[in-house]
Formats: sequence, structure tokens, C-alpha cells
Amino acid sequence: MKKERIYPDSGVELSPFMSRHYDRVLALASMGYYPKSIIRAIEDMQIQPGDQILDLGCGTGYNTSLMASYLNGTGSIHGLDISDEMALQFQSRFSDKSHITFENQRIDLPFQLDKKFNIIFISFVIHGFPHEMRHVVIENAYRHLEKGGAFYILDFAEFDMNAMPFHHRAIFKAIECKYAFDYIDRDWKLILKDKGFTEFTEHFYLKKYMRLLKAVK
Ligand SMILES: C[S@@+](CC[C@H](N)C(=O)[O-])C[C@H]1O[C@@H](n2cnc3c(N)ncnc32)[C@H](O)[C@@H]1O
Repeated sequence: MKKERIYPDSGVELSPFMSRHYDRVLALASMGYYPKSIIRAIEDMQIQPGDQILDLGCGTGYNTSLMASYLNGTGSIHGLDISDEMALQFQSRFSDKSHITFENQRIDLPFQLDKKFNIIFISFVIHGFPHEMRHVVIENAYRHLEKGGAFYILDFAEFDMNAMPFHHRAIFKAIECKYAFDYIDRDWKLILKDKGFTEFTEHFYLKKYMRLLKAVK
């Protein structure tokens, strides 16, 4: 039976087909630039072997596997997602890794896990929510971070769509949803500051259209 989408206008609730082929489609469509940028962004997070990481909207687990390569026996990653297709890929990828776990959990509703983390990561998910729900995602992240912990948002940067070269704008408009157009227009450091975060640092990739924003609790 076809699953109802929570936000019909969102681009981050992927079809079963797209979920199954997500990593390959992005690699091919970006001619390899997207996965290379993800590798650089995860390097820039400077993950430490014992980090306790929560991955919001973890998808196939591709990013999780990059983060996991920095961990030793004491670090862990817990991924949250709502997609059955993504769950299957994530769980089979890490079937022999007991420190990498998955939970079916909506991240746009308040939730309470039984532990706190020192890193919370969200990659290419938050732009796809209506703005009111993004506040809930940030509040969930804040509540689940230890004091001094870092919230990393890897997503579109803030930019003026009308100032993009024509061919970039055409691609962005063709593949992205209305929530993404709204996301790039907002001041994310200000929004995070209003929720209690400080010490912002940022790294840019893909001609500065993609940003890793770090905010500390
Ligand atoms: C564009 S994909 C990004 C996946 C992964 N973070 C990455 O960067 O490769 C968006 C992911 O968010 C998940 N997602 C969408 N809405 C969600 C929600 N309300 N709660 C939890 N996960 C959600 C989707 O199932 C999908 O796996």
C-alpha cells in the first residue's frame, strides 16, 4: 500500500525507488561531486573516536558509514529515519556493527530518547520541512545534546537564487521543493542562536551552495 506523505510538497520524503537508489542517483547526477563534498564535510567535523553521534534523517547510512570510520570501540551512532526502504539499507549496511543502531522516528515531532549525544548531525533533511517544523527539529537536537556538544547541519547554504547562473538556477528549481527555496533565504545562525546555540563555524562546498554549519550548545 502506498504510504501517505507527511508533507506532500516536500522533497525529502523519497519514493521507494529513489530511496533504493539514492546514493547512486546523487553521485551520477553530480558527476561525483556530491559524494566528494560529503567526504570533505565529514572530515571537517573532526569526529573523535569516542563520539556519541545522533544522525537525524540518516537515510541509507552512507554518511553514517563515513562518520563511523572515525570511531573506535567506544563511539556510537544512532540513526533516525521514517522510511522503511532507508531502514532496510541502513540496517543491512551495519548488521555486524552493534555500535551503529537505527530507530524509526519522526524528527519533526518532539521526541525523547533515553540518552544524550555529543554530536547531532542532520544532512539534507531540514530544508525539506515547513519552517514551523524546522523549529521542532532544532529543539529536538538541543534537548538531546550534552552541554558543549555540537549540532552540525549539512545542507544548502544561504544564497540568492536569482543571483545564480542560469543553468545552476534551472537545475536547483527543477530538483528542489518549495521548502528549499524558503530555507536558503533564512538566517540560520540567528535561528539557532534564538534556540540557545552559540559558537558558529561554517565550511562551504559545491561552489558554496552547500554548507556545514556547526553550532554548539
Ligand atoms: C534527502 S534524504 C537525506 C538522507 C541522508 N541524511 C543523507 O544526507 O544522505 C532525506 C531523508 O530524510 C528522511 N525523512 C524525511 N522526513 C522525515 C521525518 N519527518 N522524520 C525522519 N526522517 C525523515 C527520509 O526518509 C530520507 O531518508
